[in-house]
Amino acid sequence: MEVNVNVTAKSGNIAQAGGPAVAVNLYSGVKQPAGATKAVDETIGGMISRAIASGDFKGELEEVHVLYPAVSGRNTPERVILLGLGKKENFDSESARRVGGVLVNTLRKLKVKSAATVVHGGDNGKNVTDLARGLTEGILMGAYRYDNYLSDGRKTDRVLQEVTIYEKDAPKMRAIKAGMDHGRSVAESVNEARELGNTPSNICTPTHIAKTAERLGREYGFKVTVMDATECERLGMGSFLGVAKGSDEPCKFIVMEYNGRQPKGTVCLVGKGITFDTGGISIKPADQMDQMKFDMCGAAAVIASMRFAAERKLPLKVVGIAAATENMPGGHAYKPGDILESSAGVTIEVLNTDAEGRLILADSLAYARRYNPDAVVDIATLTGACVIALGTHCAGLMGNDEWLLDRLSDAGYSSGERVWPLPLWTEYREMVRSEVADIKNTAGRPGGAITAGAFLGAFTNGYRWCHLDIAGTMLVERARNYQPLGGTGAGVRVLTEFLTNWRKPSGKGPQPGRRTSLGPVRETPAAKEARKPQREGAKARNVARGRGRR
Ligand code: BES
Ligand code: MN
Ligand code: ZN
Repeated sequence: MEVNVNVTAKSGNIAQAGGPAVAVNLYSGVKQPAGATKAVDETIGGMISRAIASGDFKGELEEVHVLYPAVSGRNTPERVILLGLGKKENFDSESARRVGGVLVNTLRKLKVKSAATVVHGGDNGKNVTDLARGLTEGILMGAYRYDNYLSDGRKTDRVLQEVTIYEKDAPKMRAIKAGMDHGRSVAESVNEARELGNTPSNICTPTHIAKTAERLGREYGFKVTVMDATECERLGMGSFLGVAKGSDEPCKFIVMEYNGRQPKGTVCLVGKGITFDTGGISIKPADQMDQMKFDMCGAAAVIASMRFAAERKLPLKVVGIAAATENMPGGHAYKPGDILESSAGVTIEVLNTDAEGRLILADSLAYARRYNPDAVVDIATLTGACVIALGTHCAGLMGNDEWLLDRLSDAGYSSGERVWPLPLWTEYREMVRSEVADIKNTAGRPGGAITAGAFLGAFTNGYRWCHLDIAGTMLVERARNYQPLGGTGAGVRVLTEFLTNWRKPSGKGPQPGRRTSLGPVRETPAAKEARKPQREGAKARNVARGRGRR
């Protein structure tokens, strides 16, 4: 669904706001309310003080308590919502995000049309822009529901229209509005990715993903080129097409280009877009196979990040690459034992058709090289092994360049979407060496997330590269604060943060041939062709031109 909640800022005292709901806050351990909370308390005859004194409201993070003032002054709100902030010294932008989520869930339950609140935690020395951003992200991410196919009675109510953030200190307004703008852009991008993830595979086909990319390209101003199987064949993408062969649903190779002004470098984002992963001939068990509609969440994160980069007019070039196909066990399906030749010229022994993500990424990573990128980040729901290793609270991070790994790790912390490193040492890379081809697509269960990363590494010669495995974070089975049930929009926050904070690195990064123990990468004629500029014909047919500036 589209979230139609407006978050706006207003200069003034929240104690004068009135209306259906006013939401103020309390740190845990605080006995006497201060600031905005104190001001509101005074207008409602000390009800807040009494809720604290009685011990009914403690101010723990994510705690919420609703009061119904009996006094009826001109500016008495119908409801006062108390939001717990937890310990003052621990409050940060992620806490603000959670408070935003709790607030919007409460407002929904109460079915109010509008509410007033403040930038929570603004008095603890943290950056007010970050806090306003966190709050806005929490509200708008928390407001999302996937309810398109529910009948009327069960649809999410859309009563809530407006949340106004009051600030009585006028000079702070600019900083607050900057944070709100940024936060809205992040949240809307996340919701866009969630929607793609939640949409089932009978609707969210490769064609649907391509159309979504084209629509966003038109709306926000980036160029979108969609290649079909024939064009991919001409580029020698035997690896991607090997996977796509088992499906009747046409595959799409989607390339998006955003050209920021005064670009400080080129970043390629590469996403796995398996719209449904049956496992292919190495078929998956039936239990929870429905979750494999989320196997395109990497592609969704890339598309959403393109939207963000264009909306925020970031000063860099961003290229998004999303290979989209189903993985099906059809009559033409690829089979265990098959050998595929990727566009990089690397031959691949297929030992398990369920290790398909790395196959479509191989051709995508090879394609990225033509942009001479300063960094390439791929993102994929790649391995069940990553879920076993790290659980559901962070994504796996691998790569060939320490500087880039650090940038992703930093972006993880500051966006509230954390990532955690796994090693890619030579020994792991040797595990995917094949006896009959250059490389094999699985080395069995031990270190499965890492050997998948090592496989990808064989296609990243010549540029700085990182890989994010979001298999564990692509969905939640239970709603929590700003994360409703279903798709999470995994990767969007960390990628958009990474792009926002982008600085061109010094030094050259890894050189061709240096970083892999998988033997020199041979270049076939098809691979050479793949690095030439795009053919004009393909452009004319498939480019949806964005309306943004050129
Ligand atoms: N899409 C799956 C990975 C996955 C599993 C994502 C569970 C989210 C939740 C991927 O294509 C896959 O099937 N990987 C296999 C690889 C194995 C055959 C080497 C896996 O993880 O079992
Ligand atoms: Mn699979
Ligand atoms: Zn998969």
